[in-house]
Amino acid sequence: MNYSKKVVDHFLNPRNVGEIPDADGVGEVGNSRCGDIMKMYLKISNGTIVDAKFKTFGCAAAIATSSVATELIKGKTIEDALKITNKDVIEYLGELPPVKIHCSLLAEQSIKAAIKDYCNKIGINSEIIIKNY
Ligand code: FES
Repeated sequence: MNYSKKVVDHFLNPRNVGEIPDADGVGEVGNSRCGDIMKMYLKISNGTIVDAKFKTFGCAAAIATSSVATELIKGKTIEDALKITNKDVIEYLGELPPVKIHCSLLAEQSIKAAIKDYCNKIGINSEIIIKNY
């Protein structure tokens, strides 16, 4: 499998690995095709993501895309973070082998799941925000 230099870098040196014990939003998603799991932790202040960490049990592409996802959402409002798609993650990485595109979906889905959890906790109807993206 040929991975780009950026994928290898984010796989070997993943950014923001770990948990946030007092996270404001936590999202866990799984890929039914391979059984891999990605868990995203968010710290949110005034509607902005001030910290993000992840734990991924998965392939190299899943770990690299998790790492990129956390980098892309830090400092963004939850509305802007919801606009991030797996295409943005792939673009950041340069490329992903076609058979690994599905792995990048976990990154997008884990962001949305964590924001949905945050919205539920503070009593915002997340469907209204999420539906618009
Ligand atoms: Fe499962 Fe990549 S093979 S996420």
